[in-house]
Amino acid sequence: MSEITITAQANGPLEVDGACTVLNSSGEVVKEGNKVYLCRCGHSANKPMCDGSHKREGFVAP
Ligand code: FES
Repeated sequence: MSEITITAQANGPLEVDGACTVLNSSGEVVKEGNKVYLCRCGHSANKPMCDGSHKREGFVAP
């Protein structure tokens, strides 16, 4: 079994490091890879993936 590490980036997305598959609510594959970035600011137009909008929106993590 492989392991993944999830790290909250400073004022940015969650970095998922390790082999993983991201599914949408219908169970369809959104992304597969060894490193993905998940939005945690709520502004991405490509949820659940980060699209960089956190920078434009000035997201500040609590
Ligand atoms: S964290 Fe990057 S777009 Fe939301």
